[in-house]
Amino acid sequence: MNKSLKLFAGSSHLKLAQEVCGELKIDLGRLHLDRFPDGETSVQVLENVRGCDVFILQSIAGEPNHYLFELLIIIDALKRSSVRSVTAIIPYLGYCRQDRKNKPGVPITAKLVANVLATAGITNLITFDLHADQAEGFFEISVDHLHCQKLLCDFARELIGERCAVVAPDIGSIKIAEHMARILNTGLAVIKKERLNSFDVSMSLIGDVRDRNVLIPDDLCSTAGTLVSAANLCQELGAKKIVAAVTHGLFVGDAIERIELSAIDHLITTDTIDVRRGVPASIKRVSVAVLIAEAMKNQQASQE
Ligand code: R5P
Repeated sequence: MNKSLKLFAGSSHLKLAQEVCGELKIDLGRLHLDRFPDGETSVQVLENVRGCDVFILQSIAGEPNHYLFELLIIIDALKRSSVRSVTAIIPYLGYCRQDRKNKPGVPITAKLVANVLATAGITNLITFDLHADQAEGFFEISVDHLHCQKLLCDFARELIGERCAVVAPDIGSIKIAEHMARILNTGLAVIKKERLNSFDVSMSLIGDVRDRNVLIPDDLCSTAGTLVSAANLCQELGAKKIVAAVTHGLFVGDAIERIELSAIDHLITTDTIDVRRGVPASIKRVSVAVLIAEAMKNQQASQE
């Protein structure tokens, strides 16, 4: 391992950064993170990083505005300490759901965030399952866009067994669902939603789930509305065991309680986002630390 490999972490997900350091057998870079009395973020790099290729890990979730700005300030501090390159590892890149102008007067925050990260000075980005692959194109720097479907399938396989179907909970998740159906060698079904009026949405299933175990994949679970309504529909249509699998578990508000009360038997997610409250046994979190460590090594090798 090249001695100059250094990983720093913002305050959003220290646990994951420490796990990555464990995988790489390195110490976490020393940073002092604080707030000035007026609430502004204060950062100081506490070691010599001159000429180093540095990595900084921060997820933009939970308190997205604070964590994004904290990340920008850390990048600035590292640049001013004469690093050779800065790779941002952003396991969950918040603001990416707004990636097109779908109605008048709205911003494209995914592009804005790409611009501010580039302006702050990142030279590379490592991230997981962006809401839409096209968002990669908003960056003019190299993007290592990692996917978690294989990792999630490895855990789902023994829960759903042989006679099963992968069910895309909406049209937007067909690509992920197809990918997982291919990995698991199963059939595919799709839930079609139709808005009837401003309050009601009708849902129908294209495909068959009767007497099958089902796997419902998505890129993220926020309020859990999408997964819960998909699972409940599958149950009504005669599905047996229902397993959901998502890369990013945001779990906003009472999402965990809603999952517990729904037809979902198990939910598999990753640790791209720090969940600072306990999760029930029905929610299994799989670590992405090994994938991050691999991506860092590859990045380092390509820079030598
Ligand atoms: C939507 O396009 C996404 O892929 C997810 O389905 C959605 O953001 C999940 O949100 P929620 O958990 O609030 O339904």
